[in-house]
Amino acid sequence: MPDLYLDQLESGRPLKLEKDGKTICVTRIGHEVFAIDDTCSHSEASLSEGEIVDFKIQCWLHGAEFDLRTGEAVTLPANIALATYPVKIQANLVTVEI
Ligand code: FES
Repeated sequence: MPDLYLDQLESGRPLKLEKDGKTICVTRIGHEVFAIDDTCSHSEASLSEGEIVDFKIQCWLHGAEFDLRTGEAVTLPANIALATYPVKIQANLVTVEI
């Protein structure tokens, strides 16, 4: 079962996905789709409400940035990496592999 359809994802506009008890932020950038834990590692903010800059997502609450490709916290105040998940794209179907 796919989780999303590719055409539901607008490039640079993150979407929140609930799957297997996890809350995941899914972001399309061009032809690629990235999945990262949705909750900021600094506090309880939802990253899917944040801004995309290049391949990073910026937390709306205090401005920490995470690399969507690796989960690395690249800007303070967050300093703990987030989990990322492989994403499979088949035609218009997008599956986040947990
Ligand atoms: S909650 Fe995300 S930077 Fe503070």
